[in-house]
Amino acid sequence: MAQEGQLSADSLAVLEQLVPVAAKARRVFVFTGAGVSAESGIPTFRDAQTGLWAKYDPVMLASIDGFRKDPANVWKWYDERRQTMSRCQPNPGHHAITDWQGLLKGLDGRLDLATQNIDDLHRIAGTEELIELHGNIWEVRPLGSEFQEAFRLMDCPLSEHPPRHIDGSTLRPNVVWFGEMLDEAVLNHAFQCAMKADLALSIGTSSLVYPAAALPFVAREHGATLVEINPERTELTAAADYVLQEPSALALPALVAGIRRICG
Ligand SMILES: NC(=O)c1ccc[n+]([C@@H]2O[C@H](COP(=O)([O-])OP(=O)(O)OC[C@H]3O[C@@H](n4cnc5c(N)ncnc54)[C@H](O)[C@@H]3O)[C@@H](O)[C@H]2O)c1
Repeated sequence: MAQEGQLSADSLAVLEQLVPVAAKARRVFVFTGAGVSAESGIPTFRDAQTGLWAKYDPVMLASIDGFRKDPANVWKWYDERRQTMSRCQPNPGHHAITDWQGLLKGLDGRLDLATQNIDDLHRIAGTEELIELHGNIWEVRPLGSEFQEAFRLMDCPLSEHPPRHIDGSTLRPNVVWFGEMLDEAVLNHAFQCAMKADLALSIGTSSLVYPAAALPFVAREHGATLVEINPERTELTAAADYVLQEPSALALPALVAGIRRICG
């Protein structure tokens, strides 16, 4: 469990203001990105040293054109990521969100979590009704089919690249690639949740990938108090009411512990 003492003096001062506000919120919207899984050992996209994009051509590995050109190579890369992710566990940040969701449920409130992550860690941590904006790396669907046809394929490593459906057709990862639209129903649901929130948190995302990055801004426009948790400044920072410039595995447990002290 993270210690509040590890937080900077600035962050402790922010928390002192934020905790009473957050403890009053009954409709919370949480939006997460790759940073929330960084402390679980999963590299973020834009991390210059360890980021996946530093080593690979993103368009060839995460686009339908790249897949059509070389499905075996794309699947080799996804299989490698699946193997990395299978060794990773949720961190205290993931667990704190689950804890807060449970606390709010008991208070007739609600916490909705929309993630850009495809790594399944929020679900493994026990968060319910997870909104996965960019799909899930453990799901596949036949090439050319809709999101609704996705199913889980947990073999790790895979026995062949690309894996095949029972009818022999090629399967693709059920993730949103460059140039592809998000699942409209999933995206609309996320916007509805953002619009109804009285408190919104943007955690571990560079706030650059649209349309998902619009969610915290929309929550703010509809009256939510906006919190950002990220060690770096982002496109969203100036619009946030409270900014915790900290790793999420440190800041989230401290925030939720503070809320529990008031509500719990
Ligand atoms: N874990 C995953 O599933 C995973 C991993 C890599 C990329 N992605 C995909 O990356 C795309 C890019 O968007 P993004 O904004 O999510 O990622 P990003 O790589 O663009 O940004 C990561 C953000 O996390 C911040 N960060 C780094 N360490 C952190 C920590 N310990 N605590 C909190 N924040 C931290 C960084 O400062 C940065 O702003 C998304 O489409 C997503 O699907 C997902």
